[in-house]
Amino acid sequence: MMAHAAAIDALRALLGDRLTTGESHRDQHGRNEAWYPLALPDAVAFPESTEEVAEIVRICNAHDCPITPYAIGSSLEGQHLPIKGGLSLDMMRMNKVLAVNDADLNCVVQPGITREELNTELRATGLFFPIDPGANASIGGMAATRASGTMAVRYGTMRENILALEAVMADGTVIRTGSQARKSATGYDLTHLLIGSEGTLGIITEVTLKLQGQPEAVSAATCRFESVEAAVNCVILTIQSGIPMARIELVNDMMVRGFNIHNDAGLPEKPHLFLEFHGSPAGVAEQAKAFGEIAADFGATGFVHAKKPEDRTRLWAMRHGGHYATSALEPGKRTMATDICVPISKLAEAVVRAEDRTRALGLTCTIVGHVGDGNFHCGLRVDPDDAEELKRCKDFVNELNDLALSLGGTVSGEHGIGIGKQAYMQREHGSALTYMRAIKTAFDPNNILNPGKLLPPGN
Ligand code: LAC
Ligand code: ZN
Repeated sequence: MMAHAAAIDALRALLGDRLTTGESHRDQHGRNEAWYPLALPDAVAFPESTEEVAEIVRICNAHDCPITPYAIGSSLEGQHLPIKGGLSLDMMRMNKVLAVNDADLNCVVQPGITREELNTELRATGLFFPIDPGANASIGGMAATRASGTMAVRYGTMRENILALEAVMADGTVIRTGSQARKSATGYDLTHLLIGSEGTLGIITEVTLKLQGQPEAVSAATCRFESVEAAVNCVILTIQSGIPMARIELVNDMMVRGFNIHNDAGLPEKPHLFLEFHGSPAGVAEQAKAFGEIAADFGATGFVHAKKPEDRTRLWAMRHGGHYATSALEPGKRTMATDICVPISKLAEAVVRAEDRTRALGLTCTIVGHVGDGNFHCGLRVDPDDAEELKRCKDFVNELNDLALSLGGTVSGEHGIGIGKQAYMQREHGSALTYMRAIKTAFDPNNILNPGKLLPPGN
């Protein structure tokens, strides 16, 4: 008999053909962009309202059927993979903008809208939503994983940009957290508990987002350095000087090689910074000048300015495609991505050690980084069927994560825990992990919400 047959029958009665056990849907919902193996759900549901999500959760809770929320599937730690089987809950039909409150600089959206779709809808309002993790991710997925990306250095992460949530809890109760007010001192902060909970505490069905005014002037640039250390030291001084960078992204020489192969970029294979400035025309010019003076002290050369919108779009599309350009370096393998984040003063040490170690270990490693926040990724090409190479990569990741913790940082600045980083939860959080487990048990006593994620096995 099919696993979870009783739950699936009840779900089919509720949803009709919006509940499928078809091979191709199950396959699509069991894949990922990282290196984790296929993990098939028993069925996929396509809800269209909060009430339907609540009813689905009630059915699953009654039948002990796991539920794993799914949207675009761009998470890099397997958060959307139904590793315990059960139901993949595809939120992509709940993709409407419910309200734009331009006088209050906020909007209310359903979780399945993507960040690019939202910004297209906002274009005429003069407002925009600044969080940009690279992938055209869904807002619900970004909330659930506390995403950030290239503009967090200026505008913050999902943590700073969500005012309120609606969520369905494990027993099917619908709750609202937060309000339209910019701040509140009323009790436990459930909004921020749900943000980054990776679908393990509740299913997000509505998000109230802060919006920003579109900057009057935007200017982007690239420049290169003789060493990764010089590039990072330039970043450190830029941040310490308080220049309000909108984006300041590191790419190492290997990443540039990937862009040259994948994007025909024609860039010298040296470490680069990709930059963006937002403000008034005079403000942008002033920021660029101040940055240029610091950069000159660290030997930056080859400044290329992208003033036209289409040039900027091309630049950031290339940067956002880093994952694919990494793939181009060694086709046929998968990418294991690290995500450490350290205090800015420790960033040069962390990046230099990471790059030196991968070279010593003979690993193909691109480095990209949201370095203004002290966050960077090593993209390691790995053949998961090559036990020796897999071990070399895992050993490196382990070493790098320990380094991040010893420098006062974290093992994940933005990708989250999912499947891949559970082993570090104890090391990073110590006794606080006990309280996280207590929260999970209180919110989801039957362990049906994205089981097997975020918390390591054990008590
Ligand atoms: C990036 C993704 C990997 O920064 O987070 O490109
Ligand atoms: Zn990133």
